[in-house]
Amino acid sequence: MTTNDLIPVADAIPVDWRWLYFFLVLTFVLHLLFMNAMLGSAIMAFVGELREKNAGPGRDISTKLPYTIAFTVNLGVAPLLFLQVLYGQFIYVSSVLMAGFWLAVIGLIIMLYYSAYIYDFRFEKMPAARTFFIGLTVLLGLIVAFLFTNNMTFMLRTETWQEYFGNRSGTLLNLKDPTLLPRYLHFAVASVAVGGLFQAILAKQRKALPYREKRMNQGMRWFTTATVVQILIGFWFLISLPIEVMLSFMGGAVPNTVVFVLGLVGAVVSLAFGFTRRVWPTTVATVVTVVLMAIVRDLVRGEFLKPVFHPSDLKVVAQYSPMIVFLIALVLGLGLVAYMLYLAANSGKEAE
Ligand code: HEM
Repeated sequence: MTTNDLIPVADAIPVDWRWLYFFLVLTFVLHLLFMNAMLGSAIMAFVGELREKNAGPGRDISTKLPYTIAFTVNLGVAPLLFLQVLYGQFIYVSSVLMAGFWLAVIGLIIMLYYSAYIYDFRFEKMPAARTFFIGLTVLLGLIVAFLFTNNMTFMLRTETWQEYFGNRSGTLLNLKDPTLLPRYLHFAVASVAVGGLFQAILAKQRKALPYREKRMNQGMRWFTTATVVQILIGFWFLISLPIEVMLSFMGGAVPNTVVFVLGLVGAVVSLAFGFTRRVWPTTVATVVTVVLMAIVRDLVRGEFLKPVFHPSDLKVVAQYSPMIVFLIALVLGLGLVAYMLYLAANSGKEAE
């Protein structure tokens, strides 16, 4: 049996693959931004508890955390569906290889939710246990992210799938992959940066916030420090890739190189704005960078799978109506969410 025999036959898709690809990247970026805001803010709150207890950003973050968790989880569902439609024959196999851990993600996220809620609702009543609950929230978030990175890299390493015949218990992880650690750290450090920026935005928006100036500067400092570290980790990630994948981003393939270089420029621009503490320009440059880097991440996936598959290989059995219904639901849903956030932000102002 060869490795390729282990790749299941792909199902037909209902619309041109480019639509599905577009929505995969779009919804993944949204998932990622909220995930970053959630995990990064939780890390800031945890460090605040350890360092300054009552003057730290913890109280403020505690009330926002449950929202960001809900957005992260709900915005994760959409890319999961698009991923399954486009790359089902890969993601299903990798999910089976690590099935025990993969199913555990549900329980871990429920526990994460609980600990974040306890941190919020019992903030004043349990000062001694606060550090524990926010620490638990951070730990669970980091574990969930690690399991995601395992699955997203396992699906690309078809040559390792034979390991299943030596271990059928669903407890395999992709630990031998040299890209695993830098890729994981790339996401973890991005969370710290975006979390800091998120806190700076919240402080800027709320004129009556106690220690407003301090919070804004604190958030921007987290952003710039993490982004400097991120540039180093990014290069580690780049050189950990198989040589032919890496070279495709260094002139080997023009589209890959262009998007990658634009992403790097975006990172440098956001850093420059960050150092001068300009919150909105930093935010715009960061979102553009995240979009470009999410495309780079997908191009990496394309390079890995090139020998065996490209989404354009999928057979199309045209049926456009479900996508139109999805689009209508997406626009209406986003409108409602924006309105809800507007109401929530205003009720916060009244409480201040
Ligand atoms: C605490 C909660 C979560 C955290 C910290 C988290 C974190 C992450 C991270 C770090 C990645 C990137 C992994 C990589 O490419 O190496 C990722 C990707 C992804 N996450 Fe989440 N995630 C969470 C919850 C969820 C949930 C609940 C879902 C779905 C129901 C989800 C769906 C996805 C999907 C589909 C991708 C990959 C998209 C793609 O490959 O294009 N996530 N997540």
